Amino acid sequence: MCGIVGYAGDKNAVAMLMHGLKKLEYRGYDSAGIAYLSQGEIKVKKCKGRLVNLQNIVSDEIKEEHHVGIGHTRWATHGEPSDINSHPHVSRDNRFCIVHNGIIENYMSIREQLIVDGYNFESTTDSEVITHLLHYHYKGDVIEALFKTIHQLEGSYALSIICNDYPDQVFCVRKDSPLIVGKGKNENFIASDIPAILKYTRDIYIMEDHEIAIISSKLVTFYNSLGKKIEKQTMKVTWDENASEKEGYEHFMLKEIHEEPVAITKTIGPRIKNNEIILDQLVLKRPKKIIIVACGTAYHAGVVGKYLFEKLLRIPVEVDVASEFRYRDPIIDKHTLTIIISQSGETIDTLFALRKAKENNSKVLAIVNVVGSSIAREADDVLYTWAGPEIAVASTKAYSTQLSAIYLLALSFYKGEKYKDYVNQLQDVPKMIEHILNSTDQVMKTASLLYNSKSIFFMGRGLDYALSMEGSLKLKEISYIHSEAYPGGELKHGTIALIEKGTPVICSLTQPDILEKMISNIREIKARGAFVIVITQEEQVEKINEIADIILPIPNVDPLFAPIIAVTPMQLFAYHCSVYKGNDVDKPRNLAKSVTVE
Ligand code: G6P
Repeated sequence: MCGIVGYAGDKNAVAMLMHGLKKLEYRGYDSAGIAYLSQGEIKVKKCKGRLVNLQNIVSDEIKEEHHVGIGHTRWATHGEPSDINSHPHVSRDNRFCIVHNGIIENYMSIREQLIVDGYNFESTTDSEVITHLLHYHYKGDVIEALFKTIHQLEGSYALSIICNDYPDQVFCVRKDSPLIVGKGKNENFIASDIPAILKYTRDIYIMEDHEIAIISSKLVTFYNSLGKKIEKQTMKVTWDENASEKEGYEHFMLKEIHEEPVAITKTIGPRIKNNEIILDQLVLKRPKKIIIVACGTAYHAGVVGKYLFEKLLRIPVEVDVASEFRYRDPIIDKHTLTIIISQSGETIDTLFALRKAKENNSKVLAIVNVVGSSIAREADDVLYTWAGPEIAVASTKAYSTQLSAIYLLALSFYKGEKYKDYVNQLQDVPKMIEHILNSTDQVMKTASLLYNSKSIFFMGRGLDYALSMEGSLKLKEISYIHSEAYPGGELKHGTIALIEKGTPVICSLTQPDILEKMISNIREIKARGAFVIVITQEEQVEKINEIADIILPIPNVDPLFAPIIAVTPMQLFAYHCSVYKGNDVDKPRNLAKSVTVE
C-alpha cells in the first residue's frame, strides 16, 4: 500500500528519498513521485509504474544539492494509476506540496466546495483536496493551516508536506495511518514504515493521531492535537538491517520461508523455561469466550487457532475477518477475550476491529510482529511474534510465527495430561520444517507440472481445512492461478461440478481421526478425473499411495502440530509456480503488504 518518506538533512534529498522509496517498494504500489525544494521553489517529479521509471526522470537531480523533500509510492484507490494521479500534489500557487496515505472519505464534498471557491483540480484523487485546503487556510502559519485542514478531513491519513515559505522543513501528521519520525545526525526523516530509514537511523518517534511533527536537518519538533509543543521519547529499532536484504536468495519470499525455523525458535524459545510455557507479560484469566479477528493470512492463522482453542481448552471461539467483524454487531462482553492477529500491526480494518472490541469491554490480546505498531500500542496485551521484517507481500514466516504464538497461548491455558508432550513437540517444530526445506525436489517438480493449470483446488477437514485456506491464498496471490479451498465433505455440494479430467486438487491428510473420510472424498473427486496431490505424514504414505498421483510427505508429527509443518510445502509450491510463470514473486500485482485503507 502507499508509502511515504520525508527527508531534511545534509545529504542529497533526492537520493535519500529514492533510497527510502526503494525500501518501501515491497508494500505494493503502482506509481511513485518525489518533491524537493530547490532554491525556495518546489519541484515535482512523478510517474506511473515502477520506481525505475521515476529513477530515469530524476537522474540529474540526484547529482544536484537539494536537502529537503518528500516522496511517495501510490497504490491507487481513488483514480486510476496515472502520472497525474501520482503523488506529490501541489497547490495552485506551488506553495504547498503533499503526499498522502489513506482515504479522505468526505473528499467529494470538500472538492465541490473548493471548486465553488475557484480551485481547479488536476487529478481524480481524494488526496488533492488536501493541498488546496492548505492553500485556502494559509495565512502565513503552516501549523495553523494544517490544523484547520485536518479538522475538515474525515477518513484516514498520513501526510507529509513541504512549503516553500519554510525551505528547511518537512511537516507531517497522521490519523489511523502509520507514520514515524526518524532522528539522525544532521538529518531527520519521516516514513510510513521503518525499513525506509533503517539504514540511517534506529531512533524513531512514533506519531500519535493528530500530532504534528516538523523536521529540519537539526531539529525535530512536535505539537499535540491542541497545538501545544510537546516532547516525545525515541524508541530503538533492534531489527537487523540485513533482515531487509535478500542475502543471496533470489526472492524475499524464498528467504523468508527459509527463515521459518529460526523465526519460530525466536518466538517460542524465550517463552518456554524448563518445559513450561511462561507468558509472563500476559495477565489474562481463562476467558469464557474467544473472538479472533484478523485479515488475509493472519485470519487463516486465526482459523487454526479456533480449532486448537476449542479442542484443547473447550472454550467457544469465533473467528472473523476484521472488515466483517466491525460492521456485524458482534456479541462481546467483558468475559470475552478478543485476539487480534496482524503481522504489520497497521491493517486498518484490524485496528478498527480492536477498537470495537475495546468499546464493548472485551480484553484485547494482540499477536503482532511489528513492535510499536498501532495495534501493539492499543491492545491491552501483546504477544509479539519475533519473525523480523517480512518484505515479500505474500506472508510466510509471519504465518508460521503467528501459529507458534497461538500454540503458546493455547498450551499456556491447557491443563491436560499431554501438556509436557505438546510442549516438547512444539519445540521440535523448527527442525521438522528444516527437514522439509532440505528436500524440496518433489515440491518443485509438482510446481513444474502444474504451474500452467487454470484452477487448483485445496481440500482438507478440520485443521487440514484451515491449512488449505492458507495454501490456496498463497497460490492465488503470487501465481494468479484460480484457487479455492474446501472442507473435504463440502466440495461435492456444488464445486465438484468444476472437477474435470486433470484438475489438480491438493489434499491435506494430516489428521488420522478423519483420514478415512478424507480418503472417501478423494475417491469422489478421482472418479471425476482429478489429479490428486496429497500432503501427509511419512507414516501415512503407504496407506495413501494408491489414491494419490503425487505425495508430498512431511515428517511424522502429532496431528495437532501438522498445520505449522505442512504449510511450508504449500508455500514452496506457490513460490515455484510463481517463479515458473515468470511473475514478480515479491510484488504480486494489485496486492499491498500493509493495507492501511478500509
Ligand atoms: C495484506 C497482505 C497479507 C496480509 C494481510 C493482513 O492483504 O497482503 O499478506 O495477510 O494484509 O496483514 P497484517 O499485517 O494485518 O497481518
